[in-house]
Amino acid sequence: MQKMIVEGGRTLNGKVRISGAKNSAVALLPAAILADSQVTIEGLPNISDVDTLGGLLEEIGGDVSWGPDQTVHINPANMISMPLPNGKVKKLRASYYFMGAMLGKFNKAVIGLPGGCFLGPRPIDQHIKGFEALGAEVTNEQGAIYLRANELRGARIYLDVVSVGATINIMLAAVKAKGKTIIENAAKEPEIIDVATLLTNMGAKIKGVGTDVIRIEGVPSLHGCRHTIIPDRIEAGTYAIAAAAAGNEVVIDNVIPQHLESILAKLREMGVTIEDSDEQLLIAPRNPLKSVDIKTLVYPGFPTDLQQPFTTLMTKAHNTGIITDTIYSARLKHIDELRRMNAIIKVEGGSVIVSGPTQLEGARVKASDLRAGAALVIAGLMANGITEITGLDHIDRGYENMTEKLNSLGAKVWREDMSEEEIIQYQNS
Ligand code: EPU
Repeated sequence: MQKMIVEGGRTLNGKVRISGAKNSAVALLPAAILADSQVTIEGLPNISDVDTLGGLLEEIGGDVSWGPDQTVHINPANMISMPLPNGKVKKLRASYYFMGAMLGKFNKAVIGLPGGCFLGPRPIDQHIKGFEALGAEVTNEQGAIYLRANELRGARIYLDVVSVGATINIMLAAVKAKGKTIIENAAKEPEIIDVATLLTNMGAKIKGVGTDVIRIEGVPSLHGCRHTIIPDRIEAGTYAIAAAAAGNEVVIDNVIPQHLESILAKLREMGVTIEDSDEQLLIAPRNPLKSVDIKTLVYPGFPTDLQQPFTTLMTKAHNTGIITDTIYSARLKHIDELRRMNAIIKVEGGSVIVSGPTQLEGARVKASDLRAGAALVIAGLMANGITEITGLDHIDRGYENMTEKLNSLGAKVWREDMSEEEIIQYQNS
């Protein structure tokens, strides 16, 4: 087990290249199950969630091979509807996409309830509502979801909650169902468009992605194809925040600036100079930062996944800013750790109130979920002295080569093995 050490106070400069989108990757890989021949996906991020899902595809008989530049070839010809009640499915949230994809392909699936970051309750009732509307019988037997259907038939499904996962999962189950499926109140995230693009390249008939009504005309079979993943807007946003917090001039390369409008708007409101071109952003925090208020919303609103890193940045801003996460109100595990580093933060009702500016001080802190980890790394860059961060398995689930990328910008960040005593302390904390 390792910890990350960040020596604070360095100024970031230079260029960082953004990897493929984690939250696309984790749906594109299971989507390949639906094809009858080889699917090739280019530019996947080198993160542990991708490794875990690749392993799950192999467990059900998929032939998974890797080429250069993070390209994966998945041959689903010998896949079977193998039950996956335990094991790797518990390691991440997105294993729930095996439900939609295996149901769509085999009319049956057994998948353990997913794991992933603790962000408060994360029900999957809308996924199940969709599968049932398509004609599946869904039961929960000792923590595993059993899905069975004689035949899937298209249906009109209204989502009570706008959900990324439910929208994608229902698309996966519906693309081969008989007849027409309409998903109303669908989520509009770019990752949903990316998954629909892959499915369309495989021969699916999908209209309306990117709006809140998605129409799917079922087709009897899907074939292999080649697909290039979109860049990770959350990784890009994380580096944009790091640049605003500790940078002089940082170029963020391989981005789709339109995917980042809400976050760039908030950074500009704080006083950060930003230039955007087709595939790059230049972040230059020229002025003292001003506090802003943030409310997380579904896309294209401010993303919940950047709320925690943004909270860190706000400790540097003048006056008081209020951050409200309307998607995951309990996504607050970074707060106590930031307080350990001298941040002045109050939690009142459902909101986080950050007062600044405060000079953060290095400390020993624990990442207890993926984006809390990113928030603490940024805090380490801003802090006086040394910050030691444990819980790196969370960070490794979603950020490719974070240490190397930050060092290439002039940060001083490294990883060290933890002593036995430190591991015991970490496990008990
Ligand atoms: N919800 C329900 N019922 C459902 C599904 C969702 O009540 O059946 C609620 C959730 O509790 C939440 C809201 O709806 O309050 C939105 O949840 P959503 O389903 O959109 O989230 P998700 O699909 O489980 C994905 C990302 C998350 C990201 C959220 C919101 C993946 C694998 N995960 O989760 O990413 O925070 O959308 O944008 O795509 C991360 O990358 O750090 C991360 C947690």
